[in-house]
Amino acid sequence: MEVPAQDLPPRVRIHEVGARDGLQNEKTVVPTEVKAEFVHRLAAAGLTTIEATSFVHPKWVPQLADAEQLFPQLEDVRSAGVALPVLVPNERGLDRAVALGARRIAVFGSATETFARRNLNRTVDESLAMFEPVVARAKDDKVHVRGYLSMCFGDPWEGPVPVHQVVRVAKALMDLGCDELSLGDTIGVATPGHVQALLAQLNEEGVPTSAIGVHFHDTYGQALANTLAALQHGVTTVDASAGGLGGCPYAKSATGNLATEDLVWMLHGLGIETGVDLGLLTATSVWMAERLGRPSPSRTVRALSHKE
Ligand code: HMG
Ligand code: MG
Repeated sequence: MEVPAQDLPPRVRIHEVGARDGLQNEKTVVPTEVKAEFVHRLAAAGLTTIEATSFVHPKWVPQLADAEQLFPQLEDVRSAGVALPVLVPNERGLDRAVALGARRIAVFGSATETFARRNLNRTVDESLAMFEPVVARAKDDKVHVRGYLSMCFGDPWEGPVPVHQVVRVAKALMDLGCDELSLGDTIGVATPGHVQALLAQLNEEGVPTSAIGVHFHDTYGQALANTLAALQHGVTTVDASAGGLGGCPYAKSATGNLATEDLVWMLHGLGIETGVDLGLLTATSVWMAERLGRPSPSRTVRALSHKE
């Protein structure tokens, strides 16, 4: 049943990350044609921003080493108007992505030194220096740039991460020229008050809410509560992964992202438009779970598929 609540946005853009954040963490490498079908099904379910893959070093993330083969297979989806952002850590990644016609990229920084080192083989500031020419070149070519920021709330090695530390790197990413910022709770430790405190401080320091998306992992079951807190603050871009696939190969305590179905169930219940057909999306996650050989962790996928 749809029962609106006060002071929430009328529409939310879901940034679907299942094909990237989800599949990068699978033990088995999913065949390219299965990935292509996954993205096609996600688009058919009404998702309009689908993160497709990463142009990172294939040895670092072998699960996505087929980016060159996959991306061209998605051309029809892209021509139909679906945005297909890809992760790009450096100029080599940008060259690879641009050669295939990518028009939306994402660089990915860290609020903590330990994760920057483990994920990018760099300090935080060295990573920003690595992103600088990537963002500059992308902007020259009118390529849209998202700046991910990981470990915004807690880090498995460093513990809780102070808000001012996150804000410093967030501002640096925006100063490089990123069009949007995605706040990553990489290991899923955030709670709603912390989310609102970070958003308020970012606003205070000049980063507008309209440029901010939220990226919650659901390790402690807080992702939906954190999302609602962000919506109450005015955020309208929410990252989620179909079926709750996901994690991060360089942060072992990270589990899946907020499941897109769980998000859509809440948003539609609140009368917030997403453009997503929940039935088609659930069927997609059930299909993908069969390919992966294990059930989806999404409560909504389980509830809806048991009814069938
Ligand atoms: P490095 O070893 O320092 O690389 O890795 P390098 O710059 O020293 O280069 C070494 C060799 O790698 C060179 O080849 C380069 O050409 C090659 P050589 O000259 O020796 O033959 N190389 C590449 N090849 C293909 N594509 C490239 C590329 N770059 C260099 N792009 C590097 C540095 C950044 C490459 C590496 O650390 C890397 O690929 N890291 C990616 C890690 C990753 O993808 N993590 C998961 C995504 S982040 C995430 O999941 C969090 C998020 O979801 C938000 C959240 O939840 O918080 C976004
Ligand atoms: Mg993530």
